Amino acid sequence: MKKIAVFASGSGSNFQAIIEAVQKGELDADISLLVCDKSGAYAIERAKNEQIPYFVFNAKEYDNKEAYEKEILKNLQKHEVDFIVLAGYMRLIGTTLLNEFEGKIINIHPSLLPAFPGKDAIGQALHARVKVSGVTVHFVDVGMDTGPIIAQKAIEIGEQETKESLQTKIHQIEHQLYPKVIQTIIRGI
Ligand code: GRF
Repeated sequence: MKKIAVFASGSGSNFQAIIEAVQKGELDADISLLVCDKSGAYAIERAKNEQIPYFVFNAKEYDNKEAYEKEILKNLQKHEVDFIVLAGYMRLIGTTLLNEFEGKIINIHPSLLPAFPGKDAIGQALHARVKVSGVTVHFVDVGMDTGPIIAQKAIEIGEQETKESLQTKIHQIEHQLYPKVIQTIIRGI
């Protein structure tokens, strides 16, 4: 069974969807670790509820990205993690982790990349008045949401769409799509 680590910074609803996919037998993986950079993130509560080990760090307590990623790496190695799933992790992954997990880190982003990379992709799409946006799952490289695309799903943006309503639609798609993509990818590693 492949061991995965989920990285999150916030609510962790995608983390929850991954947990539930494992529980339902739809995702053949062991969620071995949550990595989180925000001590108050709700994702940590979800890990506690499911007895999933977690590593929480404060980036400000380290000299630089390399220093905290070395610490993350130690934890990943301790839990024998094979594959990393980013789910709302609000930091760029550096070379310390990329070199150790080449081709084994994926991310989910709430737009049809390459449109609207970076922060507040939903707000960016609404501001641009596009009629279609969506969700992208991609491999992670050194750039900001730039790695090779694995899967995408489009969502129509209605006339009356608000940030909240679009976010809800996006989350619904993400929660179905991400566990399926993870299952497909980890089968091949
Ligand atoms: C998701 O919309 C994901 O696409 C983006 O961050 C959000 C995380 O949401 N990268 P949650 O913490 O999983 O609820």
